[in-house]
Amino acid sequence: MTSPQIIPVPAALRAEPAGPLRGRLRPPGDKSISHRSLIFGLLSIGETRVDGLLEGDDVLRTAAAAEALGATITRDGASWLVRGVGIGSLLAPRGTLDFGNAGTGSRLMLGVVGGHPIKARFDGDASLRKRPMRRILDPLALMGVKVLEQADGGRCPIVIQGTAEPVPIEYKTPVASAQIKSAILFAGLNSPGRTVVIETEASRDHTEKMLAFFGASVKVEPFGDAGRKISLEGRPELHPAHVVVPADPSSAAFAIVAALIVPGSEVVVEGVMMNPLRIGLITTLLEMGASIEILDRRIEGGEDVADLRVTASALRGVDVPAARAPSMIDEYPILAVAAAFATGTTRMRGLHELRVKESDRLVAVADGLAQAGVDRAIEGDDLLVEGGAGEVRGGGLAVTHLDHRIAMSFLCLGLAARNAMAIDDEHMIATSYPRFKADMARLGARFS
Ligand code: S3P
Repeated sequence: MTSPQIIPVPAALRAEPAGPLRGRLRPPGDKSISHRSLIFGLLSIGETRVDGLLEGDDVLRTAAAAEALGATITRDGASWLVRGVGIGSLLAPRGTLDFGNAGTGSRLMLGVVGGHPIKARFDGDASLRKRPMRRILDPLALMGVKVLEQADGGRCPIVIQGTAEPVPIEYKTPVASAQIKSAILFAGLNSPGRTVVIETEASRDHTEKMLAFFGASVKVEPFGDAGRKISLEGRPELHPAHVVVPADPSSAAFAIVAALIVPGSEVVVEGVMMNPLRIGLITTLLEMGASIEILDRRIEGGEDVADLRVTASALRGVDVPAARAPSMIDEYPILAVAAAFATGTTRMRGLHELRVKESDRLVAVADGLAQAGVDRAIEGDDLLVEGGAGEVRGGGLAVTHLDHRIAMSFLCLGLAARNAMAIDDEHMIATSYPRFKADMARLGARFS
């Protein structure tokens, strides 16, 4: 069962070697929190106000899905207002819920819909149709959700029939994934009992924090050395709230690394969320010798944030432990670019999850580096990058495979390489960072 999809004509783009990057930049709102703020708005009765929402395509798809399930969403100046219907009162959507490129939106909404007596069809673009959804459908099946249709062993398009009485389960996630954890917790919101998710390595905790913020009873306990046990009491009455979305550390990563590798640069990246489960890249860059000053630490919207002053630095290769992967899972492509400019080898360990992101990022990164003249190797699930001590040839074409982070990473490489670097298609940048080109150009980047 496949339906025709509109595939835009690819738009190639080149990043030219740039002079020093200078100035201040405020990255867009965090994508994870933006998706969740719309979902929590839908599941609360009354009006939730969201400031700083990421207006990227991925998040707008979640907004459209929330509307199809009964929410009314409007803009009020810079704020987004979500008038929700509450847990247990969602409407059956009339058409397919089309999530475009968005793994997070689709997976979290599978949990939301699964916890209601609703039938819905989930679909997306060619990238989303390749991504594994069994990891979500399996725990949902234990809760009573029926999969009526699916493609290719648990891939979109998928039709599910949700349940009015989700069975309260205790579930240990097979991989550290906030998406799996969140889908189960969202379904558990309409369960008559207690839903427990155990993760042996902690993944980002925005869902748990926002559950508490919107009034659910949720308990988070340590589990083993690095894991967590999250227990949620079902059927709370969520109250609407005012969410202030901090700047996305995964989007900030591009300006941070660009400033480190373009000689003479000094950039201040403002309001970056410093949640400990999201800042593995900063830890790694500091180990590599990066000059990143953490200024004005403060709390915004319930999260630690800071301004980061980044100065061009001579980086050295490091060994990045597998245990750090959950806290920097989306940052490996841009870390690989930093590693290409370092002195010595960087080994990034345990990257199996990169194979199931918007593209097979392990292969896409290695291929793009090869195009830029960088020595690299994939050994099992590890990526090795041989740094050029500040010198990278550039000059090739990186194939983006509908992956926004591959696109932005190789554009950043082009700013610091000897020759311009091209990407085959810039469209997907709009999924997470629509102002990327304009923001970077204001710092001195040149694109053609
Ligand atoms: C996300 C979780 C991560 C991350 C994704 C956003 C989230 O995925 O890669 O971009 O908002 O929950 P996994 O949980 O599957 O690792």
